[in-house]
Amino acid sequence: VVDRLDQSQTPFLSALRHCAQRPQAAFYAPGHKRGQGAPVRLRELLGEGALRADLPELTELDNLFAPEGVIFQAQTLAAEAFGAEQTWFLANGSTCGLEAAILAVCDPQDKILVPRNVHRSVVAGLVLAGARPVFMEPEYSPALGLALGIPAETVAAALAHHPDIKAVLVVSPTYHGIGSDLEAIAAIAHAHGIPLLVDEAHGPHVAFHPALPTPALRQGADLVVQSTHKVLAALSQASMLHVQGNRINRDRLHAALQLTQSTSPNSLLLASLDAARHQMATEGEALLSDTLALAQTLRERLDALPGLRVISPQDVSPYASVRDLDTTRITVDVADLGITGLEADEILNDTLGVTVELPELRHLTLIVSLGNTAADVGHCLNGFRQLADPSRSPAHTSDPSALTSFLTHAAYPSQPSTLAALSPRDAFFAPTATLSAAEAIGHLSAETLSAYPPGIPTVMAGETITAAALAHLTTVAQQGGYITGASDPTLRTLKVIRA
Ligand SMILES: Cc1ncc(COP(=O)(O)O)c(C=O)c1O
Repeated sequence: VVDRLDQSQTPFLSALRHCAQRPQAAFYAPGHKRGQGAPVRLRELLGEGALRADLPELTELDNLFAPEGVIFQAQTLAAEAFGAEQTWFLANGSTCGLEAAILAVCDPQDKILVPRNVHRSVVAGLVLAGARPVFMEPEYSPALGLALGIPAETVAAALAHHPDIKAVLVVSPTYHGIGSDLEAIAAIAHAHGIPLLVDEAHGPHVAFHPALPTPALRQGADLVVQSTHKVLAALSQASMLHVQGNRINRDRLHAALQLTQSTSPNSLLLASLDAARHQMATEGEALLSDTLALAQTLRERLDALPGLRVISPQDVSPYASVRDLDTTRITVDVADLGITGLEADEILNDTLGVTVELPELRHLTLIVSLGNTAADVGHCLNGFRQLADPSRSPAHTSDPSALTSFLTHAAYPSQPSTLAALSPRDAFFAPTATLSAAEAIGHLSAETLSAYPPGIPTVMAGETITAAALAHLTTVAQQGGYITGASDPTLRTLKVIRA
């Protein structure tokens, strides 16, 4: 039995290694039987070790849905390391955690306050739960061309307008590393007697270094979901859900997590969570100091290249919705090169050997994490140097400055704290029809249409298609932006809900 609070232990990983190494005649699933029957090509790819450890919920390996052995111990260690009261390992990404979180706090028809630009996994949770989202706008900076955080006043105003909202959900830090003032938002939610759920998919590392954004749990969040695989060293799809306090019904959450995950959780994923926690608890601050230093070097050198501008803490700190910026996220504005971020991404990826995380119209966002090396930074700088070289003939010239100017002056057509006519669940199951854009005005949309920039949906599925919203989408597309979610990307026809 391990000491529950000895962070040098890896109870699940160690038990898995023991089970994988011992001789055994296996008459259980999976069918490859510890790799013995694995296809040669798979064995060559994964290696013997990974296949031997691809084991089911053997007695020694505990049960994810009724943990009392090594999974219980590993989750307890994780709760302590990440600053939670209780932690659940997730084998189906933050996606299953966010879905379960919504199922845990909302009954059908209940209202929940969510940002308009939530990840699709939250929309999936709304469909599953039958909850009704009240949408709030993130702050948008036309000058930077970026959606920022959620202002606390926006939350207060929405709760005043809809006092029956059952929970608040915020994404922080965002894909671009922007942290909202969760402390203020938690205080507002708690004063209403409701929980704050935080999609911290992009912040599993923040608890382990003081120079990173303040973790959501430390700011008072009740439930936090983190993609351990996105930033720390867990395998893809391995995530965690953390809870503290008594505003979340943990039994219901536990039941909901069984609705959204496989009954055969992958043991390699669970072991990778145990290992990622161990790595952070024992050497996280030192590793992250190196990562922060590497990111700082890359930021400064990229920013010094002609035509490139890196979004800095000073750029975002004046905005009311921003509490902090994760400087290991590097967002590079390439507009002054006279090409879009999408074109820059193509050149970097196809010919310069550099692949970024998120290309957008004006920006490229890079994740710098503990896996990056000084050599990676050198390659990255080399690639961007060639990209920014004035003698390089641009692959294509589209000028995003007209679009930026439009967005700076455009009256954004949606209203704050809106409630869609139809819930995401009703919209999901409704019969649809395809109409010409002109005919579609006044109908409920069957699709969520987002203009990039700013990447905030202009029309959500279940909302009325207004002439103003359609004009906004069309203009962004005409000015060189792009629209996601449209079954007809030209926007000549739209999919509506059949009346
Ligand atoms: C903000 C946000 N939330 C949730 C998710 C879903 O996370 P996962 O891929 O771990 O299921 C993502 C994935 O990109 C995300 O960006």
